[in-house]
Amino acid sequence: MPTTPALPGLTLVRHPLVQHKISILRDRATPTKIFKELVDEIAMLMAYEATIDLGLETVEVDTPLERTTGQRVSGKKLTLVPILRAGLGMVEGILKLVPAARVGHIGLYRDHDTLEPVDYYFKIPGDAAERDFLLLDPMLATGGSAVAAINSLKRAGAQRIRFLCIVAAPIGVTRVHDAHPDVPIICAALDRELNEHGYILPGLGDAGDRLFGTR
Ligand code: PRP
Ligand code: URA
Repeated sequence: MPTTPALPGLTLVRHPLVQHKISILRDRATPTKIFKELVDEIAMLMAYEATIDLGLETVEVDTPLERTTGQRVSGKKLTLVPILRAGLGMVEGILKLVPAARVGHIGLYRDHDTLEPVDYYFKIPGDAAERDFLLLDPMLATGGSAVAAINSLKRAGAQRIRFLCIVAAPIGVTRVHDAHPDVPIICAALDRELNEHGYILPGLGDAGDRLFGTR
């Protein structure tokens, strides 16, 4: 995976199909239905790259003709953890790739005035220490939500966490990396900056509202 030396901890997914789809996602004229489909597809393509170093183990397989050896992903089932609400839009696409994955949920919203995260829900599978986690949120802005979500996952015992976001602001990447240098951040677009309301520029607007048509 190509990394971004300028921002430690960040890996950018530069695949042409991902970049093409992000441009449509950014377009204010893209309707909810297409927006949702694109988030789903981008998440799947990103997960393909984000899971490139998952551990494998050798298994015996009986083909119709003979016994052979193959490989399968080792360890307990991969666990997807969307940050509600917008992270939900990334789950189904990744499940198409990893259908046996478990799904936890972290409920967080950003207070409109302070921009600080407020948490309202947390549920992940047991045996957290033995699982690989993909934390999902399309937007990494100030980084407050991602840091809070990773804090919660670690408090519950998670030790191997990767954070997948579609669009990130540099300040958010730095905040997450400073707080959790062990958590790789995989994103598909590194944008310029935040505006005075904490929105990413150029960004794509409010991901939750665009996904669920609540604007
Ligand atoms: C958005 C987004 C992230 C968060 C990013 O969620 O989906 O969770 O903001 O901002 P941050 O990096 O500054 O914390 P929001 O709080 O709008 O909640 P929603 O998904 O329920 O709309
Ligand atoms: N959350 C969003 O949905 N969009 C942004 O630009 C910033 C935070």
